[in-house]
Amino acid sequence: MANPTLLILAGDGIGPEVMGQVKRVIGWFGDKRGLAFDVSEDLVGGAAYDAHGTPLHDDTMAKALAADAVLLGAVGGPKYDDLDFSVKPERGLLRLRKEMDLFSNLRPAQCFDALADFSSLKKDIVAGLDIMIVRELTSGVYFGEPRGIFEEGNERVGINTQRYTEGEIDRVARSAFELARRRNKKVCSMEKANVMESGILWREVVQKVRDADYPDIDLSHMYADNGAMQLVRAPKQFDVILTDNLFGDILSDCAAMLTGSLGMLPSASLGAPTDAGRPRALYEPVHGSAPDIAGQGKANPIACFLSFAMALRYSFDQGDEAARLEAAIEQVLADGARTADLMGEEGGTPISTTDMGDAILNALDASL
Ligand code: IPM
Ligand code: MG
Repeated sequence: MANPTLLILAGDGIGPEVMGQVKRVIGWFGDKRGLAFDVSEDLVGGAAYDAHGTPLHDDTMAKALAADAVLLGAVGGPKYDDLDFSVKPERGLLRLRKEMDLFSNLRPAQCFDALADFSSLKKDIVAGLDIMIVRELTSGVYFGEPRGIFEEGNERVGINTQRYTEGEIDRVARSAFELARRRNKKVCSMEKANVMESGILWREVVQKVRDADYPDIDLSHMYADNGAMQLVRAPKQFDVILTDNLFGDILSDCAAMLTGSLGMLPSASLGAPTDAGRPRALYEPVHGSAPDIAGQGKANPIACFLSFAMALRYSFDQGDEAARLEAAIEQVLADGARTADLMGEEGGTPISTTDMGDAILNALDASL
């Protein structure tokens, strides 16, 4: 059988550096675990704009649709701030999400024991934290029409539209319930049903899906503003949080910071299963392109390693190998390896992106 295919889109800023380390890890699984992938690489974001004048070339889009999984680094940077909206680096990422129809975005927020002191919250509030945000990713205000900046009388008006169909809510709710079944069977759905009709429909459909097909799931509903407050007050009350595209964007940054560093958090964006039986899938760290530290060897590659672990688990049915990689990361952190973003109050000397890659590979070797 042919090897599964991985398309790597390293993108901008620290993307290429962290992805460089991930390629070593992918190679390790090929050499040592017989998990060979056919890896190809292409451009996205500002890097694609520089080469082709578009943040995602049609050929790259076609390759992404054909790949078994896509691994993405990060997009964007100040160099591109003045570009026309339609060719901004972020548009490349949004096109991938939309055309691959990656409607279910899984964003775990997990607090590693070795880093529990690191959060801006008190240790006992975050120690042992393990929650999963399921963010709808292909609809809502990110894509709703009408949108634009229009003339109205003697001034301009900026318009975006929050729009959700029942079908869109239904399918992402199912993905959250399925996931919850493999965890603690608890889902909290967040919207603003107190002020938004789309929120009323969201709440209704989510409840209906639960009652019809997932009676074993403990479902609650919360207004998203309260959800943000509860996330920093008592995050461990949650297991799976289900929410829309915009609230999910905001709440997942908030949840990410509970764990101490954005440099630690992976994500999976999943669509419907293809003929090959696996979902269309794109894996990316939650952190951005961090242009301020790009090219200096300071970036933390762990979020990107964890994104590859999610690929092993959700695309390739290799949960044990994913756990092996996650355990190696945990071990390295417990041993005290820290990139610059993980320098706590105790100080110390940060290690480089490559050093962190070396440490993970050593820990993987030791796991055999
Ligand atoms: C994210 C990012 C993106 C988003 C940007 C880069 C378009 O913030 O993945 O959370 O807003 O979805
Ligand atoms: Mg975001």
